[in-house]
Amino acid sequence: MPAIRGYVFDAYGTLFDVHSVIDAGRAITTDATTLSATWRQKQLEYTWLRALMGRYEDFWAVTEAALRHSVRRLGLRAGEDDIRRLMDAYLSLACFPEVPAALARLQGRPCAILSNGSPRMLAAAVASSGLGRHLQHVLSVDTVKTYKPAPAVYALGPRALGVEAGQLLFVSSNAWDVAGAKAFGYQVAWCNRTGAPAEELGVFPDLVITRLDELPD
Ligand code: LAC
Repeated sequence: MPAIRGYVFDAYGTLFDVHSVIDAGRAITTDATTLSATWRQKQLEYTWLRALMGRYEDFWAVTEAALRHSVRRLGLRAGEDDIRRLMDAYLSLACFPEVPAALARLQGRPCAILSNGSPRMLAAAVASSGLGRHLQHVLSVDTVKTYKPAPAVYALGPRALGVEAGQLLFVSSNAWDVAGAKAFGYQVAWCNRTGAPAEELGVFPDLVITRLDELPD
């Protein structure tokens, strides 16, 4: 691999555990794991659909729409208070346990988040996880008003860090995001936390790890 001059991280699922909303979901269902998984999948589908339709709404709006759809699809009852409580869980997500020390070890080269999240959501998650001191940039798709895997999103990383994509390591747990970043031109590490099968998209990560503390420094 060419020398790495900076790191660009996906946020949700990579640094922050989106399934930490499961606790909040227990108020409206005994199967909060299914609610969480359905909600996450629908949230991603809506980003892809909105990007293709050219109808951007920020990730907060997309996440709420995905929650309302998931509640209906699963036949659950949720009042406005429940919806608010579930949405608020997104503002205080936990990071995965190894992340603070893993990021601390990479200091010396710039580290950035590049995420679908809205600036307010990312600021809240960075604050609640205490990761801010390890991150030089927090980049949101909101700047370009579309979603991953649009190349315009991945271009934000090299622009902010002043380093070409081929000398940056993009790190994501989302296999489809790995494909998008590799297609754009980054070096890519897939943090395959769940033992998921690779995507069949004809682009491959340079490195596969299972936790962020396995990243090369
Ligand atoms: C993000 C989603 C893809 O943070 O996890 O951009």
